[in-house]
Amino acid sequence: MSRKTIVVTGANKGIGMEICKQLAKLDHDVVLTARNRNKGLQAVNEIGSNVSFVELDVSNKESIEKFADRMKKRSDSIDVLINNAGIGVGKAGLSDANVSEIKEIMETNFYGPMQLNALLLPLLLKSAEGRIINMSSGMGAYDDLEGGYAGYRLSKAGLNAQTILLANEIKGTGVKVNAMCPGWVRTDMGGAEADRPVSKGAETAVWLATVKKIPNAKFLRDKKVIPW
Ligand SMILES: NC(=O)c1ccc[n+]([C@@H]2O[C@H](COP(=O)([O-])OP(=O)(O)OC[C@H]3O[C@@H](n4cnc5c(N)ncnc54)[C@H](OP(=O)(O)O)[C@@H]3O)[C@@H](O)[C@H]2O)c1
Repeated sequence: MSRKTIVVTGANKGIGMEICKQLAKLDHDVVLTARNRNKGLQAVNEIGSNVSFVELDVSNKESIEKFADRMKKRSDSIDVLINNAGIGVGKAGLSDANVSEIKEIMETNFYGPMQLNALLLPLLLKSAEGRIINMSSGMGAYDDLEGGYAGYRLSKAGLNAQTILLANEIKGTGVKVNAMCPGWVRTDMGGAEADRPVSKGAETAVWLATVKKIPNAKFLRDKKVIPW
């Protein structure tokens, strides 16, 4: 397997950090990003080799632009971008819509990946097999919009729509765009009751990032395509 340059957002803890750990172990060049410099550096130190830190707050336009500039100076190309950073605050449903909270979630989970994908696309297009992996959730799937958690569900449904739209727009370029659900994972977001360890939550992302043959414009869980 050739060494790939892989960017992971929101990777100072949880699923993102675990993805970095597994990819570094496979000898890839991993760019671990986090909005908090100290936490990011701590995660990099813990992982050890094959990983470096660059600061990135995906809810902040200037931070995204600065990051894209740094990446252009650092590398000729990026092989994989994993949009993992996410927040899940707020149980309120649409009947009790807290619009400012929904907007806040959208900034991170929806507009963040949108801006980052657009700004890093020139570098991804220079890769022989560029890939974008959007960390979504089954809670954003159309047949699972059960009510409650409106901001989170809408942000992930929107991220899924972005996945299809971008994949279609750049079809034929070689860059593949997919969304995935990690399952219910024991992290700060998933909580202690979740049924999956973080290693399992990271598995499909690592697979999508590294195996030779992957689908395009699909939604996956456990390496299998699932309904949008
Ligand atoms: N856990 C689950 O059961 C589950 C299920 C389905 C989908 N997911 C998705 O998986 C992804 C990772 O979740 P997780 O369970 O690992 O959650 P987590 O433990 O809460 O970690 C979330 C990560 O995202 C970072 N982040 C949040 N806002 C950010 C911003 N504006 N800029 C940069 N980084 C930011 C956090 O940084 P700070 O430490 O600075 O806050 C943290 O590193 C999320 O997209 C989530 O929606 C999780």
